[in-house]
Order: sequence, then C-alpha cells, then structure tokens
Amino acid sequence: MKNPSQPSVLFVCLGNICRSPMAEGALRELAQKHELALTVDSAGTGDWHIGSPPDARAIAQAAANGVDLSGLTGRQVAKGDFHQFDIIVAMDDDNFRDLKTMRPSDSRAKLLLAFDCVAGRSGESVTDPYFGAASGFQQTWEDVTEIAHALVKRLMK
Ligand code: 4NP
Repeated sequence: MKNPSQPSVLFVCLGNICRSPMAEGALRELAQKHELALTVDSAGTGDWHIGSPPDARAIAQAAANGVDLSGLTGRQVAKGDFHQFDIIVAMDDDNFRDLKTMRPSDSRAKLLLAFDCVAGRSGESVTDPYFGAASGFQQTWEDVTEIAHALVKRLMK
C-alpha cells in the first residue's frame, strides 16, 4: 500500500521478471542513497509470472551492481495501481499502450514511457532482454539506472 506522504513510482513491463524489477531495484537503491523517501514497485501487463522471483539473469546483473532483487515477486498490474501511484513508467510502447487502455478515466497518475524523463531521450524504450543473450541484461541495467537517476532528479526538485 502506498504511503500517502511520499511520492510513488510503479514500473511496468510485460513479464515483471526482467526490466521492471531491475528498474525497481535501481530506483530504490538510488533513492536511499539520496535519502529520498519514495514508494517503488513493479508489475507486469502479463500474468505468466505472478508469484515468481525475477529472472536469474536479472538478479545476477543487479547483484553485480550491489542491488538485491531476490526477494521480489511478480505481480500483474491492476486498475487500482492508477490510484495508488503518482508515476507509472511503462518500459516499452506495448506496455504503454496496454496501460493507456486500462487506465481509469479518473486516474491522476502520470503515465510515462521509459526514457520520457531523461533529457534528450523522450520516446525511447527499454529493450526486452528476456529472449536474448545474458549480455543484454547489462544494457538493461544501464538503461534502468539512467531512468532512475532522472526520476530522482525530478522528484528531488
Ligand atoms: P520483462 O521480460 O517484460 O522485462 O519481464 C519478459 C519476461 C518474460 C516474458 C516476456 C518478457 N515471457 O514471455 O514469459
């Protein structure tokens, strides 16, 4: 449940086992470093990985950067999230479109596409690493870290 006294960010990808939990971990870590009180969560548009931990490659990549994702479990995004979170960040165009479709008309959440908050990179997505080589997870980590930095900067203003 969101703490109403602090800003909240939800990351959404397809499976909630690769990109969005990595983004969740990266932002939570960075917010802590900056002593920024923030609620951070992640979810998937799909339902295949409800209750599952993140992909082992995502856990390993985050761990290599000092972030522990092993306790996270997958969940599916729900309409109620649009009332719980201030900012919802879709990882790619498909996720963005799905979220726009399910968004309740009275939601006040700000819906962003992945890099929209990064100066000069608005409209760019985070590529899905799931079906690719393990090296793709390094790129994902770099992407979500850049997004996390931009969000912290925005929220600390
Ligand atoms: P994610 O990656 O959306 O970044 O979590 C995926 C994970 C699983 C599947 C697709 C994408 N899947 O088809 O099971």
